[in-house]
Amino acid sequence: MIKTIFFTVLTVVFFYIIWINNIFAPHEKYEIPKEHEKIIMDVKYAKEGRELFIQNCAACHSVRYDALYPLSIQSNPTLPSLQEKYGKVLPNDIYQAVFMNDLNALKESFGKVPPDLSTSYLVKGPGYLYNFILNPQEILPGTTMPAVMTGRPEETAKIVAYLKSVAEPPPEEKAKRKLMGVITIGYLIVMGVLIWLWRGRLLKRIGLH
Ligand code: HEC
Repeated sequence: MIKTIFFTVLTVVFFYIIWINNIFAPHEKYEIPKEHEKIIMDVKYAKEGRELFIQNCAACHSVRYDALYPLSIQSNPTLPSLQEKYGKVLPNDIYQAVFMNDLNALKESFGKVPPDLSTSYLVKGPGYLYNFILNPQEILPGTTMPAVMTGRPEETAKIVAYLKSVAEPPPEEKAKRKLMGVITIGYLIVMGVLIWLWRGRLLKRIGLH
């Protein structure tokens, strides 16, 4: 009986931490004005954000998951044939090897290759991205990233909405995964109860109950 209670409590605590109050998720220390946070969280701005990204950021940055490459690479005539062979999202090793010269040219201009931003939302979180893109020098003093979005907070929020949409599965996929999770837990609970009942019957049959 004590064992049962113990494991039940353990299970409840486990799912509470995973689903409701995830202590392992990054905690934001960068602020976002409410109205811009709303834009970031709304997938419908992602498309506009993508256009803004192409205009303001794609000179330097790639978003490989979305088959967006730095402009010098995007206009490279070998890109389409490579994409035909390997798919739109090129494997990273092939990308790095074929476009070494373009990447080195970027590195020469800025001291380092401007990072690929495919997973930047997951790694850095919305607060950091919003504030960094708006004021790079303030968040990362000495950075060679230019302040291209200063004074345009709303458009910056839309770009972050785009980066979010790239890093995260689309809403339908998320809903599907959640449903799968619930079904799995339900199955385990039902099986647990059945095994418990069966155990009682077995004990009875061998005369221990
Ligand atoms: C002229 C080139 C250039 C443009 C344009 C540019 N960036 Fe950058 N970006 C860089 C470089 C170089 C770095 C690396 C900075 C460093 O580590 O000091 C960087 C770093 C970043 C980082 C990572 C910051 C970190 O903490 O490591 C993010 C996110 C980012 N840029 C987003 C953007 C977005 C969004 C835009 C468009 C609004 C943009 N950048 C436009 C050159 C550029």
